[in-house]
Amino acid sequence: GLTPVEMAKFASARRASYFVEQGMRLGLGTGSTAFWLVRVLGHMVREQGLQIRAVPTSERTAEQARAEGIDVVTLQDVGWLDLTIDGADEFDPALNLIKGGGGAHLREKIVATASDRMIVISDASKQVDTLGAFPLPVEIVPFGWQATRHLIEESLLGVDVGARKSTLRMNGTQPYTTDEGNLIIDLHLSRIANARQLSLMLNQIAGVVENGLFVDICDTVVIGHPDGSDEVID
Ligand code: A5P
Repeated sequence: GLTPVEMAKFASARRASYFVEQGMRLGLGTGSTAFWLVRVLGHMVREQGLQIRAVPTSERTAEQARAEGIDVVTLQDVGWLDLTIDGADEFDPALNLIKGGGGAHLREKIVATASDRMIVISDASKQVDTLGAFPLPVEIVPFGWQATRHLIEESLLGVDVGARKSTLRMNGTQPYTTDEGNLIIDLHLSRIANARQLSLMLNQIAGVVENGLFVDICDTVVIGHPDGSDEVID
């Protein structure tokens, strides 16, 4: 038996799979909800003759997709995508997102913005009025990372947020490194009054590669519930 939260994640992934059409070029997200999507798509490929070409947003997802028998290609191979389906850490009423809890937001943002449509799959716990309770990940290059962190912290003084703490993401005793070999600074802000402004500001700092705010990128959110029902918001 699945736990209620796993049931909810499965329900959202299953509903989102109805948007997948024959021949599509598909972006595959990362995380525990996207895990269910890859499972469902693998089943459709093996049992129902679904033909798709998939671009994964992480090495983890690539490995799972291949094991499921899904045709894994690169963004370079297909040039553009019809649809990306991914999880999120938070979404607000405007369908702006925080992503990157799994450390994959750079590839996730590249893949999502190279797609005609982005659908987020989620349980109800990710729905918020205002983004920011979840720590905002900022991917930065290792060179001079302390200076970059300092500039990030300084720039936060000029924006409307609830708190201003930053932490270097760790993997045990070592700094966590992304698939691109970069570091992640998590910003503990409590409340982000203006996501667009903050996103633009962070990405202007030298050394910042990409932040986890997705503004005007997501088109649809599919919320799954533990009883197997779902809601589609767009
Ligand atoms: C990965 O970097 C994240 O953006 C994930 O999409 C996000 O953390 C959602 O993961 P879960 O589905 O496991 O909550």
